[in-house]
Amino acid sequence: MCGIIGYTGNDNSVPKLIEGLKALEYRGYDSAGVAVFSDGGITVVKAKGRISNVESKIKSEYDSLFSLCGIGHTRWATHGEPSDINSHPHGTQNLRLVHNGIIENYIQLKKELIEAGYTFESETDTEIASKLIDLNYISTGDPFLAIKLSLEKLQGSYALGILFKDFPGKIFATRKDSPLIVAVSENGNYIASDIPAVLKYTNKYYQLEQGEIAVIEKDKVTVYDIGHNIVEKKLLVADWDIDAAEKGGYDHFMIKEINEEPAAIVKTIRPRIENGLPCLGLPELSDDKLRSFKRINIVACGTAMHAGLIGRTAIERLARIPVNVDIASEFRYKNPILDKDDLVIIISQSGETADTLAALRLSKELGAYTLAIVNVAGSSIAREADSTLYTWAGPEIAVASTKAYTVQICVMYLLAIKLALCNNKITEENAKESLRVLLEQAPEAAEMALKLNDECRRISDKYKSAHDLFFIGRGIDYDIALEASLKLKEISYIHSEAYAAGELKHGTISLITDGTPVIAICTEDALYDKMISNIKEVKARGAKVVIICKKGAVGAEEVADDVFYVPELPGIYMPIPTMTVLQLIAYHTSVLLGCDVDKPRNLAKSVTVE
Ligand code: M6R
Repeated sequence: MCGIIGYTGNDNSVPKLIEGLKALEYRGYDSAGVAVFSDGGITVVKAKGRISNVESKIKSEYDSLFSLCGIGHTRWATHGEPSDINSHPHGTQNLRLVHNGIIENYIQLKKELIEAGYTFESETDTEIASKLIDLNYISTGDPFLAIKLSLEKLQGSYALGILFKDFPGKIFATRKDSPLIVAVSENGNYIASDIPAVLKYTNKYYQLEQGEIAVIEKDKVTVYDIGHNIVEKKLLVADWDIDAAEKGGYDHFMIKEINEEPAAIVKTIRPRIENGLPCLGLPELSDDKLRSFKRINIVACGTAMHAGLIGRTAIERLARIPVNVDIASEFRYKNPILDKDDLVIIISQSGETADTLAALRLSKELGAYTLAIVNVAGSSIAREADSTLYTWAGPEIAVASTKAYTVQICVMYLLAIKLALCNNKITEENAKESLRVLLEQAPEAAEMALKLNDECRRISDKYKSAHDLFFIGRGIDYDIALEASLKLKEISYIHSEAYAAGELKHGTISLITDGTPVIAICTEDALYDKMISNIKEVKARGAKVVIICKKGAVGAEEVADDVFYVPELPGIYMPIPTMTVLQLIAYHTSVLLGCDVDKPRNLAKSVTVE
């Protein structure tokens, strides 16, 4: 989704803004722009398409643009197509503004502003916000008051960075339901949508809370609450370094991040084992509290939701507690039945996904206990949940989530073991053995899966021309199939669906024709024979079948066109190496088809609008 960067300091802001925008590219965008103080006014350069178009415009139109203070933006179109005019910054002679989020009452506001004499050149909700602030600025002459009065009228979500012509060197910033940080360094201060945008310069930052208004100057940051009282902010330090946010010799972030999975598992799990037993490190979530939950609901979007499916299987199998898994955008509007006996587990890599955040807030309102599993420290979901378990995967830059998924499922295993132990469903010995698998065997298996890279590329090459591709599985293999299908389609644009293998006969099998590729995931021992029957059914209708299974799977080679053996782990842990392999297959397919692997079309890394 949109990305915001701003800088005021001792250096030329223009290259810093461009670099910051490039670091935000991963969030997804279709146009970009900057606004900087220059020649007694504010100069705006913006363009549809890549950030390089903005760079070229700066070069050709301004020769050398120099300014000590400015703001920049990558836009992911919502209101109005990607175009030069719709790109941010927007504004008037008095001010320029960048925005992440959606102004929901923009139609009404536009009407009022037209009545006040304003005209509009873009189709964006952002231009309306900028003109509302302008109107209030003209009547008050005070940027703080202008912002405050405007916030009282704006409905929806926003992170805003604003330059007022009469206040050179100052950036004004505020947020509601869209992320924004204020980062500080010796050589100037920044605003940014997230840490990677500024990591090259600093890892120290303040988290802006809902409705706070910050004034950023080159050597000073002042944060006010809406009553204009100064707020004492806690300085946070991100433990990510710049290497973590760079490709480090890999061709793409996605392949780098897949290769980081074994280490990420260890980093996430090791600190949570004490004397061989699970230790969540959450004193507020005592064993008694854990025992009190009658039901568990897992709510998330996309890949994080698929991690929740694995979590459900693990919790139901180990702890025998009923678990529902919901897509956050459905959950929040279905009038969910929750009370104090419910644990709601919210999973999110970014911690900022709008629907997931809304689901968290709704669950709290309804009296449920909320536990977040989040990768980005200090994100909205992490801060608002009753308890938070961080996945320590480091920054995930590729739009396609890979290492974050792996550690999300590892945390779900840890939680399942903990719940099972608390509810006397397993012995301490069983728990110790399961944790040993998670900490030692799982990273090894992921490492071995990475060694199958060439074999994965071969499978990708063989099936890359497919028009449709199906993934099938039963039990936990169906959970894996859903994620494998999402991974393939989002980065290779091959149409793909995942089906529970037993459901094929109820409709889907009519889609199988001569040569249709079917990837059959068969790691569930107890369901293996059933899978073979389903595979035979699709084979009989012309499908080309790839079986993904454990070594020694009987009869696989006789029925399949290709058999792919994944490293073996006990039962419920098989998704770890299996998904590594399926992520590699998706990755190579995307590369072989010449797709933009890390920034697939139309997608955004952090989905901060609903
Ligand atoms: O940041 P989150 O984990 O909340 O994001 C959820 C989804 O948007 C995300 O997993 C998305 O599905 C990925 N593109 C999948 O690779």
